[in-house]
Amino acid sequence: MPNPEPYTTAVITVSDKGFRGERTDESGPALCKVLEDAGFNVTHTAIVPDEMAAIRAELVACADERQLALILTTGGTGFAPRDVTPEATLAVVERETRGIPEAMRWASLRITSRACLSRAVAGIRGRTLIVNLPGSKKAALENLQAVLPALDHGLDMLYSEGSADCATPG
Ligand code: MTE
Repeated sequence: MPNPEPYTTAVITVSDKGFRGERTDESGPALCKVLEDAGFNVTHTAIVPDEMAAIRAELVACADERQLALILTTGGTGFAPRDVTPEATLAVVERETRGIPEAMRWASLRITSRACLSRAVAGIRGRTLIVNLPGSKKAALENLQAVLPALDHGLDMLYSEGSADCATPG
């Protein structure tokens, strides 16, 4: 059964410069708008530095204390030495959801060959789905668009008791 309530969502921007106030965060607000337009309820946003401990703490607080259904992170998925968002995410999830980053990279490779440079991961902690997105506004939105139509059904499964109905085509 689809959940009648909008799923609660956090958008976490991972950026040293954003955290220090040296760069305006364009990706976070753009992601919030797309999510709200798609029927999600964005109840929390934050900017954290590219630090394992800070990212982990933010993800755990959103999942365990705020009990949000969905967390999107933006930034820190590349190859720079301080890009550690995927490692912080893998440290807190209990089950990886590999189809989500597979779909994002598959769709993104049609746009840019650099899509293969995103190390984004996704996974589940309790009843919270965490999805990494790249940092630039363009890349974050393109990656989200690739999986957004399927997220509702994934969350319906996560919030179902027993088995969810997968018969309705999406
Ligand atoms: N995916 C899409 N759809 N569009 C893009 O422009 N940029 C890529 C990749 N994925 C891109 C994309 C680039 S250049 C990088 S370095 C990686 O995402 C990681 O980005 P991040 O370090 O900002 O997280």
